[in-house]
Amino acid sequence: MITDKNNFFKLDTNHTTYLFHVLESGHLEHLYYGRKIRCMDEYRLLQEPHAIGMAYTVAHDQEDTAFCLDTLNFEASGVGKGDFREPLVDVVLPNASFTTDFLYHSHTITDGKPALTGLPASYGEADDCQTLEITLRDAALQLDLILSYTAFPACDVIARSSRIVNHSCDGIKLRRAMSLQLDLPDKDYTLVTFDGNWGRERRRHDRPLEYGISVNDSKTGNSSSRHNPFVMLRRENCTESSGDCMGFNLVYSGNHAEIFDVSTYDRVRVLTGINPFAFGWELKPGDSFQTPEALLSFSTEGLNGLSRRFQRFANDHIVRGEWKNRERPVLINNWEATYFDFDEDKLVAIAEAAAPLGVELFVLDDGWFGVRNDDTTSLGDWFVNMDKLTHGLHGVCQRVLSLGMQFGLWVEPEMISEVSELCRKHPDWAVRVPGRTPSLGRNQMILDYSNPAVCDYIVDVLSQVFSSCQLSYVKWDMNRNMSDVYSAHSGEGEFYHRYMLGLYGVMERLTTAFPHILFESCAGGGNRFDLGMLHYMPQNWTSDDTDARERLEIQRGTSYGYPLSAMTCHVSVCPNHQTGRTTPISTRFNVAQFGVLGYELDLTQLSPDHRKAVTEQISFYKEHRKLLQFGDFYRFERPEQENAYCWMVVAPDQSEALMGYYRVLTQPNRTSELLIAAGLADDKLYDVDVIVQPMHLDEGGQAVFCGNTEKDHFCAYGDILTHAGFRPKQASSSHYGNSDAMRLMGDFSSRLYYFKAKKQ
Ligand code: GLA
Repeated sequence: MITDKNNFFKLDTNHTTYLFHVLESGHLEHLYYGRKIRCMDEYRLLQEPHAIGMAYTVAHDQEDTAFCLDTLNFEASGVGKGDFREPLVDVVLPNASFTTDFLYHSHTITDGKPALTGLPASYGEADDCQTLEITLRDAALQLDLILSYTAFPACDVIARSSRIVNHSCDGIKLRRAMSLQLDLPDKDYTLVTFDGNWGRERRRHDRPLEYGISVNDSKTGNSSSRHNPFVMLRRENCTESSGDCMGFNLVYSGNHAEIFDVSTYDRVRVLTGINPFAFGWELKPGDSFQTPEALLSFSTEGLNGLSRRFQRFANDHIVRGEWKNRERPVLINNWEATYFDFDEDKLVAIAEAAAPLGVELFVLDDGWFGVRNDDTTSLGDWFVNMDKLTHGLHGVCQRVLSLGMQFGLWVEPEMISEVSELCRKHPDWAVRVPGRTPSLGRNQMILDYSNPAVCDYIVDVLSQVFSSCQLSYVKWDMNRNMSDVYSAHSGEGEFYHRYMLGLYGVMERLTTAFPHILFESCAGGGNRFDLGMLHYMPQNWTSDDTDARERLEIQRGTSYGYPLSAMTCHVSVCPNHQTGRTTPISTRFNVAQFGVLGYELDLTQLSPDHRKAVTEQISFYKEHRKLLQFGDFYRFERPEQENAYCWMVVAPDQSEALMGYYRVLTQPNRTSELLIAAGLADDKLYDVDVIVQPMHLDEGGQAVFCGNTEKDHFCAYGDILTHAGFRPKQASSSHYGNSDAMRLMGDFSSRLYYFKAKKQ
């Protein structure tokens, strides 16, 4: 997997190779990252010749005027010795100088992977992965930069991080400490990012890399839905199903930056890690700083191939504990059903309506504590509101359990309301700048998790809540971005990262103390959807926007970097609370089932038709849950000018698969689509069935069962289905002339196709 020979390093995974070597000067020259190649001594072919001094450059070495750092590719770069690109590390010394030059000192190769102290990180056993640690030293400063590389062959992922150790007798200030540097030899890439905001998270955007610097980042104090830390570089001809691409992600939930510096020598430097914006860290003599972990993967099988690598990696090497690769329950959440207006009987009525439908878990959302009847008060007061829940959490929990369902609870422990007992007692625990009126977000302030006393308090108070009834699930919310950042517990530039270290410490303690609880992370929908959170909490609320049409785009975007098991998806009421749109309940389910399914509506109000539909949906989902949560996911290029969506999930052994086809707006007078499957085994014979819940909207916008019982069944080999495709029955946009030979496909309609391999 990892070989070293004469100062030449080769990291192999099953399908990729990463190469670099130590130059005579001691710098690490990056040579190659891409599809797997055989390479030992031939690596010299890849070395950058530097016999002639380039014009207007700074020679690193007085004895070798042709050797200039600006024109080579490196594994790690500092500042001030002639490399004018963005650096991996930037420090400032007490005398205000900031030149650094990190040169090879030593290295080790070990089986497995050490943990990163205080930070979430990927993990693996000795037979899963191997780790190379290279120590670079700036002898003049007595400063070490330790680069860590772990190769995970089966997933084709390389995990990287940096550690900076101050061996000098002086304090040093870090101004930047990034996790990964990758210098690529050409700039012919399209950058793909996932951008958005509340209610419209992680929409894919593509643009060609150009000269200068492009930055994808977050300054909100969390990983943010504005720009997710997962990004890709693809070659121009790379599609969902073929072509070369590489992806980068961070195992981190705070301010991040992905920097693409395209030099006028036509090279790209990629840097990922903590955002240098407003960052600083005091390194006293003997101190070290560990960066978060960065992940890197490469695929020749298009964007789907890259997604599969990251999805498997998250399931196998990021998510931990009892819920790792374990099927997640179908839940009902009361938020959109009641908002803050509930009592024990109202909640139990929803649970009573849910149990016979097959729902397995009842989740009590916001409003159960303090005097919280709207979003202006009580965050921090984690004791039960006995006016609403007259028999406490225990009372409502017992009634839910007696229905044969599990009980779950919402908390938002990183926040403090100005109107709360906690704020009256500990005004200094709220993050704000002395002498300034704090700006509020959703009427609340951030609790200072850089203060160890706050963290201890939260662990104590939540431990009491979590032990007060038989709790199976916790939804951990975080409903504002950070402002007015200051803490007496953080030095200049340190707050954002110290906050994250405090938060990770709290999560580590609580998830260890309550290993059976399924934690779901949430941040005003999907404002903190990242691998740092997934390390502690195996699933994440994808978006507050539950509109099926919007969810097509949100879930599609999220799937590029994250597994279906991480995405929670709810069927909610129509007209939808976020968009006012009405979509058929079959489509709401057909979208939500590709992920972890839940319902979030007042089930006591369901019509008999809808009760029947939901019962069928849940039973179908349970039958195929493993496939839908842990299968290999394939997206198709958006057919019909984005008026339709199609995706598919395939069992890893290719024994079964489900395809979802979604029509956005209907159009008359169309021929039947050609649907082409993906991921099936060429030589397996599949039974293919259309799964249809024939519900359509009546003139008043209400969903009703319609007479069309559309049945379609056929048998075909995987090679026909994946290389040639199949045509479903012709679609009609209206009820006129309705017959079994056609499909009724109105606005926002959808179909499922189930593929089952015959026993051979
Ligand atoms: C956030 C969450 C919602 C809900 C509310 C409660 O917006 O994303 O799902 O829990 O908070 O206040």
